[in-house]
Formats: sequence, C-alpha cells, structure tokens
Amino acid sequence: MAINVSSIFNNLKLARKLTLLLLLIFIVGITFSGIALANILNHRAEEEITSNAWLLIRTLDSVRSYTNADVTPQLQSRLKNDEFFPQVVPSFLTRKVFEQLKKSDNLYQDFIYKESMLNPTNLHDKADSFEASLVNKFRQNQNLQELTGFRFLNGKKVFYIARPLAITNPDCLKCHSTPDMAPKNMIKAYGAINGFGWKLNQINGIQIVSVPASEIFRNARQSLILVIGIIAIIFAVAIFTANLWLQRFIVRPIKQVAQVAEAVSTGDMDAEFEKVSNDEVGSLVEAFTRMKISLVMAMRRFEQHRNRSQKHDE
Ligand code: HEC
Repeated sequence: MAINVSSIFNNLKLARKLTLLLLLIFIVGITFSGIALANILNHRAEEEITSNAWLLIRTLDSVRSYTNADVTPQLQSRLKNDEFFPQVVPSFLTRKVFEQLKKSDNLYQDFIYKESMLNPTNLHDKADSFEASLVNKFRQNQNLQELTGFRFLNGKKVFYIARPLAITNPDCLKCHSTPDMAPKNMIKAYGAINGFGWKLNQINGIQIVSVPASEIFRNARQSLILVIGIIAIIFAVAIFTANLWLQRFIVRPIKQVAQVAEAVSTGDMDAEFEKVSNDEVGSLVEAFTRMKISLVMAMRRFEQHRNRSQKHDE
C-alpha cells in the first residue's frame, strides 16, 4: 500500500506533487487549528455566559439582602398591623429591579430571574418541573450552595445558576405560615391559599437566573467558520501562486532544456539552450550549453580525423 502510494506520487508531474503536498499541509493544519480554535471559542463563550449569569444573580441577591436588612424593617415599623403593600416584600422589590433592568436594554430581554417556589405566594413564582427537581436536590444535600448548568427553555438553550431559598428569619413567617397571621390587605391582594405553610430553615424553593446561551454559541460558531474560511482562501491563493511560480521558473525552462537537448541529440547543432534566470535552472542551462560546445568540438575533431585518414588511404 505504502509502496503503491509513493509510486503513484512519483509518477505525478511537479505541479501536481506540489499541489498535493500543500493540500495535505492545509488539511492537517486546518483540522488541528480548527479543533483548537473551536475549543478556545467555546470556552470563551461559556465564560461570557457564566460571568453574565454570576453578575446578575449576585447583583439581584444583593438587592434582596439590602431590602431585607434595611428597607423592609423600616417600612414595616411604619405600617399598622393589617396594612400591607407589596413594596415591603424583598422578593417583590428584586423582581421589580430586574424588570427595570430588562426595560433598560433589549440585550437583557431573554434573561430570567425567578424566586421559584414549590408553593409560592405569587403564582408567577411557581416552580416548573425542572426547578422542582433542583429544589429536591438542594433538600437532599443541605451542604449544596448552588447548582449550575444548561437547559432548554422555550426552545432556547440557557445557562442557569440556582441557589437554595429557605426561611431563616422567624419574622418572615408572619406572612408565610398561616393566613390568619398575615396582614388582611395582603390576603385581599394575594388570597389565602398560596404561599403559606412554609417552615423555618426548610428549603422551599430556589433563586434561579437563566441567561441565553444559544446566541453566544452561535456567534462563536460563526467566528470559527469565518476564520476557517479566511485560512482556506489564503491557502487557495498560496496553492495557485505556487503553481504559477513553479510553471514559470521551473517547469517551463526545464521543458525548453529537454526540447533543445532532444534536438541536439538528433543532430540539430543549431538548436540553442536559452538561459532565462540566474538560479539553479540557469546553471543547468549553462552546463547543457557547455556540454553542447564540447560535443560540437568533439564531433569536429572526429570529422577532421576521419577526413585525414580517408586522404591517407587514397
Ligand atoms: C408582609 C408580608 C411578608 C413578609 C413579612 C415576607 N413576605 Fe415573602 N412574600 C410576601 C408576598 C405578598 C409575596 C409575593 C410578592 C410578589 O407578588 O412577588 C412574597 C414573596 C416571597 C417570595 C417569592 C416567592 C413567592 O412566594 O411568590 C419569597 C422567596 C419570599 N417571599 C420569602 C420571604 C422571606 C425570606 C421573608 C423574610 C425575610 C419574607 N418573604 C417575608 C409577603 C411577605
């Protein structure tokens, strides 16, 4: 097999050999660099997606903590027992801040922040089956701080970060344990069915951020195709130019030398080798010219010798 390939290669013309060699280098080069580049771009894309998600969840968590620590107590101390407005609720405020962010720029349109609960006060926060499975994972392993990964949401690939949510402050139970303890105005607004029966220190849900991934991965793929396309064009131009060069400086002059040598060998001593360049091919032409001169001189001497011996015989 190996012998076969090398004999086929040997039988090819120079230009074909060169083209084949360059194509081989191109294919091997593009395969390795393509794989490396794809990995780098993918890694970059993942980094971009995860850093977006981390920034978002940390920012919103800070809004939540600050509201919880400073704003809610201040407001609540000013409220009468049955008075209520949703702006005192940290999770409501966090959602509003996030909605504001989404309004500020189309870039965040597909970002999602949710305080996703098994039994939420606001049904907008109801955990879907995937989120419920994350809640269960956190319940099974209390040491787990966060879960991250990719999932499909409305047909789009998203990256998510989830953190467990548990009530650690007994003050929260005022509105989340039994309806009769909650402010009447809150029951009016939200009803007496959802968001009650939460227990202290029990994981009832998760904070989950989802950031779109499909588009960033698509951009990475497009960059990869662009770079490979550019390299392919450069190689195509290189192969074409190398072939032109080979024809002009090597193949054509050698063919001429071969033609003249052929003519000289059949007795046409007027055929002249033509030197077109000062390189190795030029040296070859010079050597052939010298050889032709020596041949002409040798033939002349031979002729004289024959003439002389013919005269001698007469
Ligand atoms: C004054 C009553 C009240 C108090 C006190 C309260 N919450 Fe809530 N909580 C609500 C209401 C009302 C909502 C629904 C807000 C909305 O529409 O987004 C809510 C929503 C939530 C949510 C989002 C999921 C859902 O049920 O809709 C979480 C999580 C939450 N509260 C946790 C807490 C924690 C933790 C505390 C204590 C730091 C607390 N809450 C204190 C009334 C309260």
